[in-house]
Amino acid sequence: MRKITVSGNDGYEILIDKGILGHCGEYIRKATSASRVLIISDTNVAPLYLDKVKTSLEENGFKVFSHIFPAGETSKTMDTVSGMIEALAKSELSRNDLVVALGGGVTGDMAGFASAIYLRGINFVQIPTTLLSQVDSSVGGKTGCDLSFGKNLVGAFHNPKLVLIDPDTIETLPERYKKDGIGEVIKYAFIKSEKLFDLLSLADNFDDILEEVIYLCVDIKREVVENDFTEKGERMLLNFGHTLAHAIEKAQNYEGLAHGEAVGVGMLFITRASEKFGYTDKGTADKIEMLLKKYQLPTSLEADINALTDIMFYDKKRRGDGINLVLAKNVGNSFVQPFPTAGLKGFFAEGR
Ligand SMILES: NC(=O)c1ccc[n+]([C@@H]2O[C@H](COP(=O)([O-])OP(=O)(O)OC[C@H]3O[C@@H](n4cnc5c(N)ncnc54)[C@H](O)[C@@H]3O)[C@@H](O)[C@H]2O)c1
Ligand SMILES: [Zn+2]
Repeated sequence: MRKITVSGNDGYEILIDKGILGHCGEYIRKATSASRVLIISDTNVAPLYLDKVKTSLEENGFKVFSHIFPAGETSKTMDTVSGMIEALAKSELSRNDLVVALGGGVTGDMAGFASAIYLRGINFVQIPTTLLSQVDSSVGGKTGCDLSFGKNLVGAFHNPKLVLIDPDTIETLPERYKKDGIGEVIKYAFIKSEKLFDLLSLADNFDDILEEVIYLCVDIKREVVENDFTEKGERMLLNFGHTLAHAIEKAQNYEGLAHGEAVGVGMLFITRASEKFGYTDKGTADKIEMLLKKYQLPTSLEADINALTDIMFYDKKRRGDGINLVLAKNVGNSFVQPFPTAGLKGFFAEGR
């Protein structure tokens, strides 16, 4: 069992262990005095893991209810969140009771948000079941949902009481979503960890290093959110590759590259450009390309870079007439570089 503790007023533990799903009730019992629990899950994850989680919770004395919503990002709406809140009320959860989010980032973000606003906030536990949610979304306390105007436009900061990560759940995860997670894993290596880069470079098989990878990524995310909970500074580093990735996803109507794949291409392009502009040590982009190829993520893109830059102008992270670009100096070191929007097209044109 590996344990990471996020410090702070409402600090919490993250426990990583193969098979922990079957014992989740024991750990949740230690972390809360709740008597009722509502498990929130989606239509793909519930048939796989709900019974196991429910049984362990019941064995540890909880009265357990469940609420299942249709899987997928298209469900990440206020309507779905409303459904969750209605379920909380119907199950008569009190201020002292608990929500368990069992699923990927869509489940965790919405169940966390419902917990943040039901009775002005009740506790919740994250049990992330996708690689992306295990290494990223389940830690850091960002919760919310999408609006028709854009992704993640509504939400709240609400920390979980506990995060339980079972690497075994990745066995059932479809390949596309696994690659999504690997894109983010590669991101962590370049923003903060040469050790993770070496691990990824040397491994024969991703599954052999999975647990160690999750641990290293979560520990980086812990460090970043401890230093900057509300994303004013260091947390921006987590957006490495994301400015371009969001533009790619939007240009492809969210039907093209998966998010993690777009992040991979985004990191590669921006790093090629920043090498040419002298911000990045030579050879860094080649290292990104090497890892993307090794883990079978795309390294090229048929797209009009001008059109993508136009989309970036509307990126919510834009500041005044400049944009904050997250750049890698080399493997394991990254920084935020303010850049004038007028120069952006020229910059990204160098990245192709
Ligand atoms: N809160 C944050 O800090 C943060 C950070 C990054 C991303 N996110 C959010 O996370 C979401 C993406 O997360 P995601 O990729 O986990 O999406 P997701 O929750 O939709 O899961 C992806 C798919 O895998 C299925 N699935 C989940 N676990 C499974 C398992 N073990 N076996 C088989 N199928 C399984 C799901 O039903 C879904 O179809 C986005 O909405 C994004 O905005 C949030
Ligand atoms: Zn991402």
